[in-house]
Amino acid sequence: MESNSASIKEVVREKYGQAAQRVTAGEGSACCGANACCGSAIDPITSNLYGSDQTGELPPQAVLASLGCGNPTALAELRPGETVLDLGSGGGIDVLLSARRVGPTGKAYGLDMTDEMLSLAEENTRKSGLQNVEFLKGEIEHIPLPDGSVDVIISNCVINLSGDKDRVLREAFRVLKPGGRFAVSDVVVRGEVPEQIRRSMEMWVGCIAGALQDHEYIGKLAKAGFDGIDIEPTRVYSIEDARQFLTAEGIDVDAIAPQVQNKFMSAFIRAVKPSPKG
Ligand SMILES: C[S@@+](CC[C@H](N)C(=O)[O-])C[C@H]1O[C@@H](n2cnc3c(N)ncnc32)[C@H](O)[C@@H]1O
Repeated sequence: MESNSASIKEVVREKYGQAAQRVTAGEGSACCGANACCGSAIDPITSNLYGSDQTGELPPQAVLASLGCGNPTALAELRPGETVLDLGSGGGIDVLLSARRVGPTGKAYGLDMTDEMLSLAEENTRKSGLQNVEFLKGEIEHIPLPDGSVDVIISNCVINLSGDKDRVLREAFRVLKPGGRFAVSDVVVRGEVPEQIRRSMEMWVGCIAGALQDHEYIGKLAKAGFDGIDIEPTRVYSIEDARQFLTAEGIDVDAIAPQVQNKFMSAFIRAVKPSPKG
């Protein structure tokens, strides 16, 4: 498990290091699947997640570097003065949006393990002029922050990349304050999908380590200690979204369509760290 998890991490680090370099070179970052960029003009997973009211207040490179599958800051409740932590912050888009929402008395941390992404995020922060932002180098399985130090954890399409999701959720629980909120976008599978087909779809979505089924996600959050767990689909993928990628992989798309259609989705996942009773 540990060595498998370590090799997954190396593949993920390399893939996102390259994505950051493409943005820095002035190319787009959008990439679906582990092996190849889509080639299509619009990526059904990463495109059109943010409104112009949000992108208008960000450096263009932060928007270009967006590789999420949702918009956690639009759905999370963020209050002035709060401390927010973004797990797998990439080019920093959600950290910068959070920093504006929590204001100068609050703080937004981004955590990422990929040097190229951290450099890009630092550069985007400098261009934004925001002061209440800090990027940390590290792994979401070992969060470099003290117990009970964060009000809200956000994340955008990163937990599905981890080979040890139980550990990530335990760490999220540890660093949250009592009453703290978990408010994350991630890819989730709903219903049974045969293993082989599931792997192909996961490669399309870019879930190198495998996406969780919705009931598995709920079970793991509960095991970590969370309450008030809810999973709300935000974008459900059709077989047409994946047709080009799967065909290039040599898969008979029409044959597998009934087993895949509408089972893969991006979702907003919420949970709360309970406050001690009494
Ligand atoms: C799909 S991108 C999402 C980036 C960002 N959240 C966004 O919405 O644009 C995944 C990011 O998570 C980082 N990442 C993946 N696994 C990680 C881990 N185990 N620990 C820390 N960072 C990780 C990658 O380096 C990459 O920047």
